[in-house]
Amino acid sequence: MSGKNVTDMVLADAEGIARAARILESGGLVAVPTETVYGLAARADSAEAVATIYAAKGRPDFNPLIVHVRDAAQAAEYAEFSPAALALAEAHWPGPLTLVLPRRGDAGLAEAVTAQLPTVALRAPAHPAMRALLEAIEFPLAAPSANRSGFISPTTAAHVLASLDGRIDLVLDGGPTTAGVESTIVAVRADGSIEELRPGPLAVGVQGGGGSIEAPGQLASHYAPGKPVRLGATEAEPDEFLIGFGPVEGDVTLSASGDVNEAAARLYACLHEAARADRPRIAVAPVPEKGVGRAINDRLRRAAAPAD
Ligand code: TXA
Ligand code: MG
Repeated sequence: MSGKNVTDMVLADAEGIARAARILESGGLVAVPTETVYGLAARADSAEAVATIYAAKGRPDFNPLIVHVRDAAQAAEYAEFSPAALALAEAHWPGPLTLVLPRRGDAGLAEAVTAQLPTVALRAPAHPAMRALLEAIEFPLAAPSANRSGFISPTTAAHVLASLDGRIDLVLDGGPTTAGVESTIVAVRADGSIEELRPGPLAVGVQGGGGSIEAPGQLASHYAPGKPVRLGATEAEPDEFLIGFGPVEGDVTLSASGDVNEAAARLYACLHEAARADRPRIAVAPVPEKGVGRAINDRLRRAAAPAD
């Protein structure tokens, strides 16, 4: 299924979901809304299908994928669930939480999904379209964010097309996503300890040790808009497009009222708009480190890091 040149976009209604299920069954690539960002899905049990994800995104093959499932029962086919892991799944699934767990040897996942790691990342998303799709198929879905590797994540179907048109089979349009930043990733170790690998919409009360690149997508430069980004700005230089927050008015604002949840939902749309603007540089107002503000600042730091 490589060398595509027509990408269809359909509403994520019953008919669209049935069509997506057929394409996925035959090994194709479909962009699907989740409550965080749009994912680029392929069947996780097919080496050929998974290879097309890496090719369409230009993703390095050392960066493993999240496996999307209906629920903890399906997830348990692919990973060892300790009591601590099961408690997290029961508390937060379906939802914006990804669990990194010991991989089961007999799991039947394509090798490339886990990029040689002894662990596998699993998530049961809450978005009704993604849930309906997972009910309609018998295999789990490998799905990274539906953008070219290293660039801004997609929170609308139009963002997906801007990045991947002609490289994938179908986009299911479910409108703008609500949470706006990628899922919180938590590793549950054999001894029951938990470590946050990526901050996200959900606070699970653990914070990463810092500096770890165990989640390879956590490399310094990521989510890059292709222009220099200056953080903590209270006003714009003449050549800057300013993304505001709270009292800092910008060309656009993450949230005029200073609401971090609204800011998360609008983050990538604002970065896409700044990337398209005619000014050569981007400035972003300070965002507090409270709640999902931690995830926003994590993504902004990576968007601002030089891509060497
Ligand atoms: O909200 C999300 O998580 C979205 C939606 C589509 O589900 N997906 C997403 O996927 O953000 P992606 O590929 O952009 O980011 C997945 C992250 C990467 O940083 C990857 O390195 C990490 O998960 N990851 C995957 N498997 C892992 C593993 N076994 N151990 C550690 N990190 C892993
Ligand atoms: Mg991504």
